Amino acid sequence: MPAVRSAYDPKDMQFRHLGPTGLKVSVLSLGGWLTYGGTQKGEIVKKCLEAAWSHGINTFDTAETYASGESEVEMGQALKELDWPRDEYVLTTKIFFGTGRKEPNTRGLSRKHVVEGLKSSLERLQQPYVDVVLAHRPDYATPMKEIVEGFTQVIRNLNLAYYWGTSEWSAVQIQEATQIAERYNLIAPVVEQPQYNAFHRERFEVEYAPIFDQYKYGTTIWSPLASGFLTGKYNNGIPEGSRYANHKDFFEGTIKQLESEEGKAKIEKVKKLTKIAERLGGTMASLALAWTLKNPNVSTVILGATKVEQIEDNVKAVKLADKITPEVMEEIEKILDNAPAQPPKFGRER
Ligand SMILES: NC(=O)c1ccc[n+]([C@@H]2O[C@H](COP(=O)([O-])OP(=O)(O)OC[C@H]3O[C@@H](n4cnc5c(N)ncnc54)[C@H](OP(=O)(O)O)[C@@H]3O)[C@@H](O)[C@H]2O)c1
Repeated sequence: MPAVRSAYDPKDMQFRHLGPTGLKVSVLSLGGWLTYGGTQKGEIVKKCLEAAWSHGINTFDTAETYASGESEVEMGQALKELDWPRDEYVLTTKIFFGTGRKEPNTRGLSRKHVVEGLKSSLERLQQPYVDVVLAHRPDYATPMKEIVEGFTQVIRNLNLAYYWGTSEWSAVQIQEATQIAERYNLIAPVVEQPQYNAFHRERFEVEYAPIFDQYKYGTTIWSPLASGFLTGKYNNGIPEGSRYANHKDFFEGTIKQLESEEGKAKIEKVKKLTKIAERLGGTMASLALAWTLKNPNVSTVILGATKVEQIEDNVKAVKLADKITPEVMEEIEKILDNAPAQPPKFGRER
């Protein structure tokens, strides 16, 4: 074996720093919610990770709760078989929801569950550490100081992670955690994992503006295709084998909405956007992803994929983003017609 082993070729991938850290993540990453360990198991998981890697994707996301721990098992097994040097990829997992067990201390963000939950995640992943561990939701039942101490402990004392972050926390909660970290010499969170896509904008573009400004907070954004809606695949009903079809109960409200006036209006917007995508030589999926990439506060866009072909389609977003000129952006905004209002700044803008 050569003294230095390398398996990674960045190809045309681009990279951004994860918020204020020195860690570099590929602008597209790959996650396992509802897919790996859920509908997709075994060889297909490995194939999807391999396809992503072959296009320069170096960042992978999972959570203790995905498929009740099976997502970590499947992704961990795939990573083991792929045998990439550990310093060439970035792995993130999330703690909060547990794996479906009912005992009182097997979920939440108590110091006990942050430590024990992460240890269990790592066992399932067959990994000595993750690069980033995220608090999958805020925990209203645990004092913020204990939460920050718990994450500091897994990083500083136990070496189970290098950084920590938040997911679907309010800007105020992120500020509180950061201020506590500063006051007590603890480690502050550096990244938020929020939903962000062309139809879900308000929190990212308005509420988080101060934390991007104050802390250069990073983001790993989820459901960039609104679970597939932004590919156009639901324009004419629900195709067999698709996410909405496979998870009818979970998406009950979303499916109902498709038939409402609001839902029909959204489908019309997707149809108009598809024309722009085609004019630029892309697909609707790649345009929707490229649109999120244009936002500099996005560190990485987490893709979800059940098939290798979806990854092949979606990675085209990186090049397509270059074609989204300010004029094209304006055209897209006109169609979307949903840019959230910003608070007044009284002429005091930097
Ligand atoms: N922190 C959180 O609370 C949270 C919540 C949700 C997700 N996440 C993370 O974010 C990741 C991505 O979220 P997501 O899976 O919802 O992303 P998404 O991109 O909105 O949806 C992905 C799904 O859309 C379909 N799809 C993707 N590309 C396609 C293409 N080119 N053509 C046709 N269909 C396509 C596939 O589903 P089908 O083939 O089944 O239709 C795929 O599984 C997750 O894996 C997870 O790591 C985090």
